[in-house]
Amino acid sequence: MAKNLWMETVAEAQRRARRRLPASVYSALLAGSEKGVTYEDNMNAFGEVGFAPHVAGLVAERDQATTVMGQPISFPVIISPTGVQAVHPEGEVAVARAAAARGTAIGLSSFASRSVEDVVAANPQTFFQLYWMGSRDVMEARMARARAAGAVGLIATLDWTFSYGRDWGSPKIPEKLDLKAMLGFAHEGLLRPKWLLDYVRSGALPDLTTPNLTDGGRPAPTFFGAYGEWMTTPPPTWEDIAWMRETWGGPFMLKGISRHDDARRAVDAGVTAISVSNHGGNNLDTTPATIRLLPGIVEAVGDDVEVLLDGGVRRGSDVVKAVALGARAVMIGRAYLWGLAANGQPGVENVLDILRRGVDSCLLGLGHGSIHDLTPDDVVVPDGFRRELGTGARSRSRT
Ligand SMILES: Cc1cc2nc3c(=O)[nH]c(=O)nc-3n(C[C@H](O)[C@H](O)[C@H](O)COP(=O)(O)O)c2cc1C
Repeated sequence: MAKNLWMETVAEAQRRARRRLPASVYSALLAGSEKGVTYEDNMNAFGEVGFAPHVAGLVAERDQATTVMGQPISFPVIISPTGVQAVHPEGEVAVARAAAARGTAIGLSSFASRSVEDVVAANPQTFFQLYWMGSRDVMEARMARARAAGAVGLIATLDWTFSYGRDWGSPKIPEKLDLKAMLGFAHEGLLRPKWLLDYVRSGALPDLTTPNLTDGGRPAPTFFGAYGEWMTTPPPTWEDIAWMRETWGGPFMLKGISRHDDARRAVDAGVTAISVSNHGGNNLDTTPATIRLLPGIVEAVGDDVEVLLDGGVRRGSDVVKAVALGARAVMIGRAYLWGLAANGQPGVENVLDILRRGVDSCLLGLGHGSIHDLTPDDVVVPDGFRRELGTGARSRSRT
């Protein structure tokens, strides 16, 4: 009889991912910068918000459908872009198929291991993600390629400070997985034979290149080659962001907002959506959890843009709390990576199902027939929970 691979929670998917992946790949996904304060707070802060459930007069049919940047999605969860390699041979294509099978959209990292053309073919609801890296001409060419491939939106991610150093140690990632590097990893691969076997069966080892960052038929840069280009690009101004949005010319999300003043500037730059995000705790450690920042930012931008949140979402109840506090939808990162590592495409579908069912239970308990009926009254936010950044006179005067 086939082994039952169904996973009940995201925590179980993470346990399986840990058992299956080589230690260095697992720790590259776990990440979190420096002491991991933000990484932990993103998850734990959801636990500080409570529910106010009803017991009778509940609703039998519950609807989760919504839209993000014009794309209809069957429930308020989309895939956040992760530039992550060597998790599974099908990588982002498996994730894209899983998202399509569950009626939702995928954000594709510019550091992804699979091409935007392959990913759009697997899921036409693909948003391409770009960092501010390279010259304007290079960025324009990358945007043109994504547009020609059929990407239906652009995600500009700005929250990255090139900090490195994790208190529990960064994994060693080779420049290229050639024979020499593989021998260095051999003990890890041999300790994780199922992961290795998946790659052997697929006929290729992870090559750690970035196929969406090639220009004009040249070979794809290695992960570190691309990272070097990014590090040496001068950081963008708000005018640069407005240029990027205009050059893209379609739905545009700015990902990485923590402050009210930045949220307002994003509105002024003409974006379609923002994501309240701290890169899953991988950027400036001790930045507050995104769910603490969300309510204030929602109040600051009103209906001027769509507000999403990402960071720490592991349960359907986390999704519902974010939506009740004003998010249109959430984006998930590690949750689907654990599913992908544990069981490929079905593992990602499993994680999406866990979240959808969790949302449904909450709607039932809260007495709502639709996610659009959720309001802050459905949740209990303790005193002192919220954080408001960038609201002072000094912040407003900076242009
Ligand atoms: C391993 C890893 C790689 C990531 N790479 C990218 C990336 O290339 N582009 C990007 O915009 N965000 C990237 N992120 C951030 C995610 O899009 C998202 O903001 C974060 O994972 C949300 O937190 P969560 O993992 O707790 O859900 C990455 C996150 C992780 C964990």
